[in-house]
Amino acid sequence: MSKRLLIVAHTPSPNTQQLLQAMLRGAHHPDINDVFVVHKPALQAVPDDIRACDAILLFTTENLGYMSGALKDFFDRCYYPVLEEKQGLPCAIVIRAGHDGTGTRRALDTILTGLRWKQVQEPLVLRGEWRDGFIAEAEEAGLYMAAGLEAGVF
Ligand SMILES: Cc1cc2nc3c(=O)[nH]c(=O)nc-3n(C[C@H](O)[C@H](O)[C@H](O)COP(=O)(O)O)c2cc1C
Repeated sequence: MSKRLLIVAHTPSPNTQQLLQAMLRGAHHPDINDVFVVHKPALQAVPDDIRACDAILLFTTENLGYMSGALKDFFDRCYYPVLEEKQGLPCAIVIRAGHDGTGTRRALDTILTGLRWKQVQEPLVLRGEWRDGFIAEAEEAGLYMAAGLEAGVF
């Protein structure tokens, strides 16, 4: 049966929308045949989306030293409903931060530790002024999650 990769993203700007598209492109790499990729905006993702997935990729901006309110709302709504049944869920983080990113990374580490989800790649922090190179990094993050899921390495 196909494995399911869930991408939960908050993309308030054209740059962040491009990054999401890059992650989706990576996850849909033509060599990966047995992974079903689902994208949900953070404000629309619900506990059943998490229950149904085999791995999750989280993408947020850093705003005011923290993750976006949208991703925080996702955790506020989903944390307890999935806490017992999704321990060990493979996950990864991508942060777009205009100049920092550490507050968001720290906050996500704390929440993911509480959930006992397993970070399977180093958080990707796309920091500073926009660079076109971010797109390849985001694409790689999507590819890595889908390829790892298909290969059963997580
Ligand atoms: C209200 C607001 C607060 C922000 N706070 C931070 C912050 O604390 N740290 C940071 O690194 N970037 C901050 N930023 C910059 C955003 O992270 C950045 O603009 C966003 O990720 C979108 O990226 P883009 O400008 O490339 O589209 C802030 C942006 C806004 C609008």
